[in-house]
Amino acid sequence: MTSIQAATYPIHFDENAYQELNKFIKNKNYSSIFILVDDNTLEHCYPRFIQFVESTKPIEVIQINPGEVYKNIETCVGVWNVMTELGADRQSLLVALGGGVITDLGGFVAATFKRGIDFINVPTTLLSMVDASIGGKTGVDLGVLKNQVGVFANPQMILIDPEYLHTVTPREIRSGTAEVIKYGMTHDVKLFNQIKDNNQLNIIDLIHRSVAIKNEVVLEDPKEKNIRKVLNWGHTIGHGVESYFMDNPQKENLTHGEAIAVGMVCETYISSKVLNFPTHKLEEARQAITAIYGKIPLLETDFEAIVDLMKHDKKNVEGEINFVLLNDYENFEINCKVSKEIIKESLAFYADFVLS
Ligand code: GLY
Repeated sequence: MTSIQAATYPIHFDENAYQELNKFIKNKNYSSIFILVDDNTLEHCYPRFIQFVESTKPIEVIQINPGEVYKNIETCVGVWNVMTELGADRQSLLVALGGGVITDLGGFVAATFKRGIDFINVPTTLLSMVDASIGGKTGVDLGVLKNQVGVFANPQMILIDPEYLHTVTPREIRSGTAEVIKYGMTHDVKLFNQIKDNNQLNIIDLIHRSVAIKNEVVLEDPKEKNIRKVLNWGHTIGHGVESYFMDNPQKENLTHGEAIAVGMVCETYISSKVLNFPTHKLEEARQAITAIYGKIPLLETDFEAIVDLMKHDKKNVEGEINFVLLNDYENFEINCKVSKEIIKESLAFYADFVLS
């Protein structure tokens, strides 16, 4: 599969990527290599990864707990401490081997350690392959608020080996699929239709196409000043729903993709109200998305808190909640202001009831 060139780094695919990695490590002459893993990637991905790596320099493994609840500054402090104890210096390399938590947190740890060391992303989940590992966003959560603390920092290389997908659950694959649906609805309706109709699904092609779309957007607007905001399609409401479920003991935690699925249905509804998104396509999108994710249980009494959490969205300016909306598939507008009433109406549309 052909490599994709981002602004300052290449994205390599399949086993060929390891040859590129070895060439790169040899040329750069790093003093040491730190591989950041969690319990799951240590057990299921590290054995495959390490068998391909050729290095004469010391390799150390740093393990953190798995899961979004550990994507915080305390975990970073733990990793910085271990790196310091093990003698990491400015010529060290950090390899983030894992899902979105590992690549976001690992990139942040590397970008800030001794004012910045090199890092390489090796995503192992579909979500991190098609989205989180690409584009230089690094960071951690602040309480339940997602990605509130972080920096833009580009990796030296991204290595996408779809073999790692055999190590994750079907629920995790569905979670990543939400980001592929996002690219489909905003940039490539054929991609959306492939998922909707569940035909000709070749996961390698889906990944490659998704990475190519994301890379094009990031090349145009690396720091999310304008057009990159489109990559938040479904995420304004989705992040509110995700944070609300994470913070509420009565609700089972959702995967990121499940929350974004709710967000995409709601934001399609809003698009049909505020812009001209066709109503028959709204119904089609709702059906296609709920066929994959089921119906996440939402009560009217949840809505106020979800909307409150949305006020922390990083796209907001001067307290206004800012949306990406669609005129149609492949035709979006950024910076759309939407009233609280329409947001609540969209949640009710998702949950299939009329607001009281
Ligand atoms: N995940 C959205 C972005 O990277 O901009």
